[in-house]
Amino acid sequence: MLVPVLTRQARRDGETVHSPEERVTEVAGLAEAIDLDVQTADVVRVPNARPATLFGNGKVDEIAASVQAGEIGLVVVDHPITPIQQRNLELAWKTKVLDRTGLILEIFGRRAETREGRLQVELAHLTYQRGRLVRSWTHLERQRGGFGFLGGPGETQIETDRRLIQERITRIRGELETVVKTRALHRSGRAKVPYPVVALVGYTNAGKSTLFNTLTGADVFAKDQVFATLDPTMRELALPSGRRVILSDTVGFISNLPTMLVAAFRATLEEVVNADVILHVRDIAHAETDAQKSDVVDVLVDLGLDPHHADAPIIEVLNKSDRLSADDRVVLDERLARTDATAVLVSALAGDGLDALLSLIDDRVSADTIERTVSLRPEDGALMSWIFEHAHVVTRETDEMGATTLQLRLDPQRAAQLDAKLS
Ligand code: GTP
Repeated sequence: MLVPVLTRQARRDGETVHSPEERVTEVAGLAEAIDLDVQTADVVRVPNARPATLFGNGKVDEIAASVQAGEIGLVVVDHPITPIQQRNLELAWKTKVLDRTGLILEIFGRRAETREGRLQVELAHLTYQRGRLVRSWTHLERQRGGFGFLGGPGETQIETDRRLIQERITRIRGELETVVKTRALHRSGRAKVPYPVVALVGYTNAGKSTLFNTLTGADVFAKDQVFATLDPTMRELALPSGRRVILSDTVGFISNLPTMLVAAFRATLEEVVNADVILHVRDIAHAETDAQKSDVVDVLVDLGLDPHHADAPIIEVLNKSDRLSADDRVVLDERLARTDATAVLVSALAGDGLDALLSLIDDRVSADTIERTVSLRPEDGALMSWIFEHAHVVTRETDEMGATTLQLRLDPQRAAQLDAKLS
């Protein structure tokens, strides 16, 4: 059972908001993502949120009756609920109650496959629990007396619980740091592979994975080979010019992404910020496509990127063009041709527009990459080290006299520095 809730909330000017109907559909989709069988979904207007139960008494009773009649096992409230509200509603409805954050944490918990992912989800979960513990237990605090092994004399139960959670959080942070360091090592190893990284971002269900698979799967442009040291969601891809890039799939965004999840996944999301090109995949046929876009832009801004900056390395991929009417498609195509050189209309499923997308990526990558071939004598050791540190070495050949010829790729600034060193 789902109860998306509408309360009066101040909205920032100009913010694109999701409609109640869309929120119902979206939260139902989230629930189905973890195999819940959604029995009913209603929008409840709450003009005055009650501290104890969020809803007014009449509504609480009404929902209790339908929970009983339908033998409902879980109620999802698509609105933040305090621990006290959660407990009171669970008592009144005699069933489990989850809010949006709780539901999203559940999904992430099921989906996390890598060790890093599992640690990130657990960290988010603990942070969530810690916040709830503080608020829900304060009125129940009881002294443990002086016998506690862990807690010193006079330590209250809540203090003990909070401390245990904090210790676990500290331990997970430590473990995560190790994993992230290992990944950074892999990344510097990858830097030797002279390929720029292209990261996919987008609202959940926009079609990122489909695009990733279409581009790298059985596609003629793709080389279906996973780097042994890379995450499984990274694959090599050949562009029309013959340049190669690494395409990287990332976690999907969603409106009201719990902040603790953004924080926990920061390390993963930072991969996006470090990418050479970002593909923002959008479901252009979705009724809420503009609201979804502004949610994604918000997260990117949070991560320190400025998507509005003219030089931002972002390409908008307007996906699911096959769902548009032929007329809409033509109008959109014409508008893009006139106004926007950094957006392209595609259908990841049907394969339309992918050539144009690949050429756009090619342009973007080439603009930032300069190629050079240099010959070095054996005594040019210092220059050789500089090159290995600052450029991607594509090929390296040493002749019998000890002279080394390097084929390089580097950014324009480094290329100028290299030219100065060579002149
Ligand atoms: P998350 O993993 O939730 O972040 O989603 P995602 O962005 O990776 O989306 P995914 O690739 O899983 O696609 C979501 C749904 O959209 C799937 O049912 C796809 O088949 C469908 N889809 C993706 N691309 C297209 C397209 O070009 N046209 C149509 N009609 N459907 C598409």
